[in-house]
Amino acid sequence: MTKWHRSYIQNAYRELERGITRKQLDTLGINATGKRVLDVGCGPGNLLVALSVDTPKFLVGVDVDAIFLSFGRSQVEKLVERPLATPVLLRAALPTLPFADASFDLVTCFLVMPHVPDDYVALTELTRVLKPGGTLAISGHGFGFPLRYLKRFRLKPLQMYLASLIYRCTGKKLIRNTLQNDRKMCDILSNIGVIPEVQHYNKKLLGCVATYWIKAIKSEVSPKAMQ
Ligand SMILES: C[S@@+](CC[C@H](N)C(=O)[O-])C[C@H]1O[C@@H](n2cnc3c(N)ncnc32)[C@H](O)[C@@H]1O
Repeated sequence: MTKWHRSYIQNAYRELERGITRKQLDTLGINATGKRVLDVGCGPGNLLVALSVDTPKFLVGVDVDAIFLSFGRSQVEKLVERPLATPVLLRAALPTLPFADASFDLVTCFLVMPHVPDDYVALTELTRVLKPGGTLAISGHGFGFPLRYLKRFRLKPLQMYLASLIYRCTGKKLIRNTLQNDRKMCDILSNIGVIPEVQHYNKKLLGCVATYWIKAIKSEVSPKAMQ
């Protein structure tokens, strides 16, 4: 486990203990009760633990990182008590999820958009596995986010801005960890038939959003049929 994994896990579980993770779900009006739920990019399982409290029908987490998955599996075993169903953690990565179309009622994907190879393709895949009328909740970082690192790590903000610029100009995430314009994300979602319903930001730094959350509902009618 790297230093980065350790510090991410520490911070994520601190937020879980303090109720910050639950508050994020509540702010978006997300309740997983009785639902088939998928958390994409589940990391060390923090969101899965928060969602399990709602007693979903079943709960699956996927991530590309074997270290997070292994830690996440041990945490959900320890923290999710019977009669709640223990979440299942699998290794898989956007843009290819190993699930049939319309398998889930709720799909969450928090802080993963900065790392996916292509925003449009990733959102389309998240939508594919969601049933019509189902809920997609995503979050990511806006252009204000790197400013918080300015004092401590000067290269990190530079890297994030550069990654975003390269993606904007070439359509390629040659360096991962891009920043998103949340309005553009809403436009993509609307275009693929997932209608944004709730948007939430933490704070703005120098007028720019640091972290955004979007909850959107998959239309019962396919976008092609609407045209
Ligand atoms: C910043 S962490 C977020 C973890 C968790 N969702 C949370 O909110 O705390 C980003 C996670 O996305 C995962 N990830 C990165 N690229 C991915 C991809 N293409 N498909 C699935 N997961 C990915 C990383 O391994 C990492 O666990």
